[in-house]
Amino acid sequence: MSLILGIETSCDETAAAVVEEGRTVRSNLIATQYDLHAKYGGVVPELASRAHLEQLDALIQEALAEARVTPADLDAIAVTSRPGLIGCLLIGVTAAKALAWAWGKPMIGVDHIEAHATSAAIALDHRPWPALSLVVSGGHTSLFLVRDVDDIRLLGATVDDAAGEAFDKVASILKLGYPGGPVVDSRARAGDPGRVRFPRSMPGDGLDFSFSGLKTAVLYHVHGPGRTTGGLERLTAQDVNDVCAAFSEAVVDVLVERSMQAVDRTGVTTLLLGGGVAANSLLRSRLAERCRGGGVKLHVTLPAYCTDNAAMIAALGHNLLLRGRRDRFHLAASASRT
Ligand code: KG4
Ligand code: ZN
Repeated sequence: MSLILGIETSCDETAAAVVEEGRTVRSNLIATQYDLHAKYGGVVPELASRAHLEQLDALIQEALAEARVTPADLDAIAVTSRPGLIGCLLIGVTAAKALAWAWGKPMIGVDHIEAHATSAAIALDHRPWPALSLVVSGGHTSLFLVRDVDDIRLLGATVDDAAGEAFDKVASILKLGYPGGPVVDSRARAGDPGRVRFPRSMPGDGLDFSFSGLKTAVLYHVHGPGRTTGGLERLTAQDVNDVCAAFSEAVVDVLVERSMQAVDRTGVTTLLLGGGVAANSLLRSRLAERCRGGGVKLHVTLPAYCTDNAAMIAALGHNLLLRGRRDRFHLAASASRT
């Protein structure tokens, strides 16, 4: 039996989990910092790392207790070491090193985005590779070809804003609060997507994404061409719902189209969906519909493993350890993927 402690501190969620055999989640705890950053409209890195420092130790103890394991029962520690906010990553990596040393356990650094890319496999009774994986989160919008846990190739990524970031920025334009994804999603369900049409941008000949033009189109639609303030007061609640619906349609159209292009280009007919935006109701239903029609097997990550969590870090860590991978105490945290 393999028991891995996972630690995640790359952005604004402090998380710890214990996972057995890479797929049975024994505990999965998240201390969110939403309230801390809400009034700033985005994550403040210094506040985030300080909050990780304050919460992580107790959260790890709780994750072990809930999983009914002691440090001695653990086989290894997996920690997010890249990419993310460097001060935040350092808190998790330093904790993992200290515990690995104190408890005499192996340790492995895990790529946060690769963990999102493989998170749909948690709780599956088989390994779904080879698969395409669409990771849509607040910081990333990327399409990967996952041939195996240690063979994950980037096919395309956003050249500007991430999809979740676009949701957050549109929520901020409409003064709907932060994080914006869930509220824009629910307002969109009450809206008419046909009243406005926002642009769909698919840059280049590859599989890249771009959402900043769409965000600007929403801004000018709300305030008037070339204007950045003054127009919101004129919109009724129904107008706001309609903007949310039209914006969601535009984002989802692009995400679905690029995924289907990836299927055509690679011939791979399994698609995984992960990251915080995977919770979006329109994206889930549209992707399911297109996959059904195109003979593509879709695995959507379970909600608990969509937003940042440590179970996905422990699960990928387990699979990499099985391949003989492990890190030493000079493991570095890195803001980028390399
Ligand atoms: O994966 P995640 O926790 O953060 C990163 O690693 O970046 O994803 C958070 C993002 C936020 O931008 C949030 O607005 C978005 O996911 N999100 C959604 C929904 N739920 C969360 N976006 C659209 N629809 C949702 N239902
Ligand atoms: Zn994430």
